[in-house]
Amino acid sequence: MCGIVAYVGNKNVAPLLFEGLKRLEYRGYDSAGLAIVSEEKIKIARATGRVSVLESKVAAAGGFESHIGIAHTRWATHGPPTEANAHPHTGKTKSGHTIAVVHNGIIENYVTLTKYLTERGHVFTSQTDTEVLAKLVAELYEGDLEKAVQSALREVTGAYAIAVMCDKEPHTLVCARKGSPLIIGIGEDSYVVASDPSAVVAHTTQVITLDDYQVARLCAGPKDRKSPGGGPWAVEFRTTTIDNVRVTREVEELELDLQQIELGKYPHFMLKEIMEQPESLRNCLRGRIDQRECRVVLGGLTPLVRDLMRAKRFILTGQGTAFHAGRIGEYLLEDLAKIPARCEYASEFRYRNPIIEEGSIIIGVSQSGETADTLAAMREAKERGAMALGVVNAVGSTISRETDAGVYLHVGPEIGVASTKAFVGQVAVLTLLALYIGKRRFLSDETVRTYLNDLEKLPEHVAKVLEQSDHIRACVERHVHRDNWLFLGRGYNYPVALEGALKLKEISYIHAEGMPAAEMKHGPIALIDEGMPVVFIATQGSQYDKVISNIEEVRARGGKIIAVATEGDTRIEKYADSIFRVPNVPEAMQPLVSVIPLQLVAYHAAVLRGHDVDKPRNLAKSVTVE
Ligand code: F6R
Repeated sequence: MCGIVAYVGNKNVAPLLFEGLKRLEYRGYDSAGLAIVSEEKIKIARATGRVSVLESKVAAAGGFESHIGIAHTRWATHGPPTEANAHPHTGKTKSGHTIAVVHNGIIENYVTLTKYLTERGHVFTSQTDTEVLAKLVAELYEGDLEKAVQSALREVTGAYAIAVMCDKEPHTLVCARKGSPLIIGIGEDSYVVASDPSAVVAHTTQVITLDDYQVARLCAGPKDRKSPGGGPWAVEFRTTTIDNVRVTREVEELELDLQQIELGKYPHFMLKEIMEQPESLRNCLRGRIDQRECRVVLGGLTPLVRDLMRAKRFILTGQGTAFHAGRIGEYLLEDLAKIPARCEYASEFRYRNPIIEEGSIIIGVSQSGETADTLAAMREAKERGAMALGVVNAVGSTISRETDAGVYLHVGPEIGVASTKAFVGQVAVLTLLALYIGKRRFLSDETVRTYLNDLEKLPEHVAKVLEQSDHIRACVERHVHRDNWLFLGRGYNYPVALEGALKLKEISYIHAEGMPAAEMKHGPIALIDEGMPVVFIATQGSQYDKVISNIEEVRARGGKIIAVATEGDTRIEKYADSIFRVPNVPEAMQPLVSVIPLQLVAYHAAVLRGHDVDKPRNLAKSVTVE
C-alpha cells in the first residue's frame, strides 16, 4: 500500500527519495509526491501515476536541492488518485510556517477534526484523511515540531506511520507510528525513514523500529551552521512516546541483502520469486528437519510446546493467498496432528463475535505481518483468551511481535505483488507445524520419516516442476483469449484451486473461480461452454477417481481440460487436453508442488495479455487498511 521515504542528512535528498520511492513501487500506488526544505521554504511536487512522472516534473522545475525531504507513494483510500489528494499534505502554523506530512494508515476521526480545524480557519484542499494531520500539527505548533506532533497524535484515532517536517526547523524530521510499519535507518551522517526495509538497505543496515504510539526526532545538520556547504555534520536522535516520555530503542542489524530485492536476470519480480522457490524453500526448511532424531525442530515454539500439546482447537486466519495457505493448514492440522482446526477470513472472524473456547490457539498467516484485518483478528482472539502464533515472513513485523510465539517463513523478501514463494513457505511451515505436533501425539516415526524425506527433497521436486515453464506458456497461449476460467480440486488440492484462480485474476484480469471439484455440479457447471479452460488439480490420491469423474462432466460439455497430474500417471492422458506434471509426494504435501504450475499459468497469461505483472492495477502488496 502507501509508501513513505524520508531523509535528513549530508546528501542531496531528491535523488535519494526517488530511489527509495522506486524501491517501494512494488507495494502498489496510484500517485506520488515529495517535499523538501529549500531556502527556509517548503517546496512540493505531486503527480498522479508513476514515480517517473513525478521525477520528470521535478526535473522540469529545475530539480529540488536540499538535505531534508519527505516522499510518498499513495494508494487511494479517501478520495480518488488525483494530484490534490497525493501526499505530502501541508498546514500553516500561526506564525506563518509550513508543516508538511506524509502518512500511511487511516485517521478515523478525521471528520470531527476537520470541523474543529475549519472553525479555526484552516482551509482544506484535498479529500484525504491525512490533510487533517498536517493542519492539526500546524495548529498545535509553538516552535517545537516534536511537541506539536506528539500533541496532534494524542488527538487522533486510527492508524498511522508519518514523517513530518517544518520549514522553521530545516534540520529536523519527526516520525511516528501506530499500527502502520515504519523503520528508521541510521547512517553515518544521515537518517533515512521508510515504511519498508527495501528503501533503507541501500543506505544502511543499522535500524531502529518504533512501537505503537512512539515518536522519533531525527536531527542532522552541519556542525558549523555558518558553513552549511562543507565541514563535518552532527547527527542526533531521540525517541519518545506521544506523551513525551523518553524511550530507548535498540539499534538492530537489518537482515536484508540488496540482491534479494533486485531483479537480476529476470524481467519481473514475480517470475524471479517463482523460479527461486527451490532456494527459498531450502532456506525455509534449513535446520528444521532432524532426520537422525526423526523430528521437526521449531525453536520459536519450544517455550510453548506444552500449550501446543494441550490445544483443543486451532483457528487459522489470514487474507487472500495467506488465507488459502491457512485453509491447507486446516487440513494438515486435522489430518496429521488430529486437532480440530478451522481457517477463517480474518476480516469475517473479527466482526462475528467469535466464541473462543479454552485451549484455542489462533494462527495468523501473513507474508507481510502487517495486514490490518489479520492483525485485528489476532488481537480479538487474544483478547478473548486464545494463545496466538504467527506464521509470518517479514521479520520484526507487527504480527510477529504481537504473537506469543511463531515460525518465520525465511523465504526472503517478497517483492512481486502476487504472492508466490510466501504461499509455498506458509504451507511448508504449516506442514512442519502439523508434523511437530503430530509426532508428539500419535504419528509413528515411520510416518514422520516419510514426510521428512519428502520435505527434504521438496526443493528438487519444485525445481523439476519449474522446468515446464515453456510448456506451460505454450498451453496458456492457446487459451489466453478466454475471459472465464475455472480451477477445480478436491481435498488438499481444493485450496490450491482457490489460489490458482486468485493468481490468474489478480495479474491477468481474467475472471477465474476456484472451487471444490464436486461443487461444480451444484450450479457453476452452467458456465461451461465449448472451449472454456478448466484447470483440474488431478494428482493421484484418495480422491483421484472422483476427480476423473468431474473431468468427464466438464469434457462432456465442451470444456478444455488442463490437468495438473502426477508424474507417471498415464490414465489422465485420455482426459486432458494439456498436462503439467508434478512429482509423486504424499497427499498432504501435494499443494506444495501442485501450486507451482498454477503460478506459472498466471504469470504467462499476464505477460501474454501485455500486463505489468509486478504492478497489477488496483492492487497493493500489503493491505494495511481494513
Ligand atoms: C495475493 C496476495 C494477497 C495477500 C493478502 C495477505 O497474491 O498477495 O492476497 O496474500 O493481502 O497479505 P499478507 O500475507 O501480507 O498478510
